[in-house]
Amino acid sequence: MSGADPAAEAAALRAELERANRAYYELDAPEISDAEYDRLFRALQALEAAHPALATADSPTRRVGGAPAEYLPKARHAVPMLSLDNAFTTEELRDWHQKLVRLDGRVAEAALALEVKIDGAALSLTYEDGILVRGVTRGNGTEGEEITANVRSIGDIPLRLDGSDWPARLEIRGEVYIGRAAFARVNRDREARGLEPLQNPRNAAAGALRALDPAEARRRRLAFFGYQVVVLDGTAPADTHDGMLAALARWGVPVEPHHVVVDGIDDAVAACDGWATRIRDLAFDADGLVIKINDLAVQVELGVVGNRVPRWAIARKFPAESAFTRLLDIEVNIGRTGALAPTAILEPVRIGGVTVTRATLHNEDVIASRDVRIGDVVEVIRSGDVIPKVLGPDRSRRTGAEVPWQPPTHCPFSGTLLVRPEGEAARYCPDPRCPGRAYEQLVHFVSRAGLDIEGLGPERVRQLLDAHLVRDAADFFTLTADTLRELEGFADQSAAALVQAIAAARERPLHALLAALGIRHVGATAAKLLARRFGTLDAIREATAQDLEALDGIGPAISGSLREFCEDPGTAALLDRLRALGVAQEEAGVQADGPRPLDGQILVLTGTLPTLSRAEATQRIEAAGGVVKSAVSRKTTAVVAGSEAGDKLAKAEALGIEVIDEAELLRRLDRAE
Ligand code: IVH
Repeated sequence: MSGADPAAEAAALRAELERANRAYYELDAPEISDAEYDRLFRALQALEAAHPALATADSPTRRVGGAPAEYLPKARHAVPMLSLDNAFTTEELRDWHQKLVRLDGRVAEAALALEVKIDGAALSLTYEDGILVRGVTRGNGTEGEEITANVRSIGDIPLRLDGSDWPARLEIRGEVYIGRAAFARVNRDREARGLEPLQNPRNAAAGALRALDPAEARRRRLAFFGYQVVVLDGTAPADTHDGMLAALARWGVPVEPHHVVVDGIDDAVAACDGWATRIRDLAFDADGLVIKINDLAVQVELGVVGNRVPRWAIARKFPAESAFTRLLDIEVNIGRTGALAPTAILEPVRIGGVTVTRATLHNEDVIASRDVRIGDVVEVIRSGDVIPKVLGPDRSRRTGAEVPWQPPTHCPFSGTLLVRPEGEAARYCPDPRCPGRAYEQLVHFVSRAGLDIEGLGPERVRQLLDAHLVRDAADFFTLTADTLRELEGFADQSAAALVQAIAAARERPLHALLAALGIRHVGATAAKLLARRFGTLDAIREATAQDLEALDGIGPAISGSLREFCEDPGTAALLDRLRALGVAQEEAGVQADGPRPLDGQILVLTGTLPTLSRAEATQRIEAAGGVVKSAVSRKTTAVVAGSEAGDKLAKAEALGIEVIDEAELLRRLDRAE
């Protein structure tokens, strides 16, 4: 870019940064890596420093990023919520310190507080007389979004502070995050519900905080670490940063335990070096350390730069989890639903202690929009256990020999013409018997989202496929201990155990089989609806599109792909075999032909019912053909209200919707039994 018109260059950088900010903060879907963002940010900073006339008041270098979402009430911060400047190297860390020493000689001897930089979403909590009264996101630093209801659903955050030495009004600031294990669980649950997996814990946390439904916030298992106290009214509990952290801990606020105070910059540098390789081993995502002047009075005197970052703190970032390497080729695989899955074949590269040779390229739209070409040097990231991803090419390293990628027109496994449904980002191989799909399908079939066969993981499935013992899902049920014993890694006991686990899977309910089959659009929710309504696999196979779509929650996409699955000779033969083998043919407790007096009715439960738990009520309503929804709308048939019914009751009354009690619900259900 050098030599170009600096004004045009600044405008281009600004536009790119604004776009990245929007994707990150407002859409919770980052488009570029943090490292790339930092590069652009620094380039713009340097340009503005060299040409002060170019520094516009609304430049991204002057703000924290992200506007409050339209749909949430806005709230102004009493004291701005700042961002942090970054130091990517030891030199940059020492430079920061040097500058402070020049500003204020006392810094040379000042103690430094070091703590983990948690990679989540910043949150401000206001407590009055020890009671949580408000939760607000950072937003643009000056104004955030009021999300008190969601904040109350975070178990880590005390609704009332312990002890009594808290100021009458204070703000506790900290980071909301999702631990790695919890994140994996959230994605497994989402998969079981037929939802797209979330991209990463940070965006999942930010999205959950701003979700409209506190239940969604709860489902994402958010956690919190406090790192700052802002006294609004009353006396500060300490005059050092570590004193404040100790106060937070006394009040029952979780504080990340690895914080230390060191004597000066040399010790801080040594401590940072010690963390560089360990930071990714924490149970949550962290991308560096924060170094702060420990003395709060000195902090106040050092102040803030441009309303954006404090002088008294800096983030020492360890961006080592991404690396650049050459994209040698793009291999095409077929996912379990038939979607084309482009995979990057990479020149081996070490990332976070692991050699990476393959990474996902998501789908063809991502390849096109990021202009990824074969031969490019690409940035690859790896976080935790997640599959490595290609972020994008380094365009400055192009030689001209790079070749744009063309997605194939035909499936490389079955030779079938690929199709791309309107509005979808991927092409599909429409052949349900495509051998490319078999592996992924079989892995899904036996996974927890499917028939949940213990002892059958991806590697075992691969082994069985390679040994030609299994070609489709029905083949699992023909395996004997004798054949398994022939395979590497099986002993008498393990072979017998697996055969037993497979036999047990025959007794699974029909909905598990439906979800296991990996029929496009039929996730766990649709599978349950169908199984409860129709009761047996035979009944589902006989149902017409009209019968299927009569169910609330089943639309033309689901019914279409289900009909197709039942009618295709290949998959119909698979269903016949599964039937002959007696695999999961029925949904317990459903009488397919029984009376279903709540057919098509939409009920909403609110308050505490005198005898039925919410789960029991839901199960009985669904068994009678009804649907339970969480929100009242004009489509609601009736609201079942118990004691302490809240807003839903008021809304039902406002919309003129019938309100019934448990006794009436039971009367209506009884007509079913
Ligand atoms: S102090 C005025 N301490 O990092 C200083 N921030 O990149 C404000 N963060 O907005 C922040 N861990 O959301 C501080 N131990 C920590 C932190 C931390 C994570 C986040 C915070 C901040 C962002 C800046």
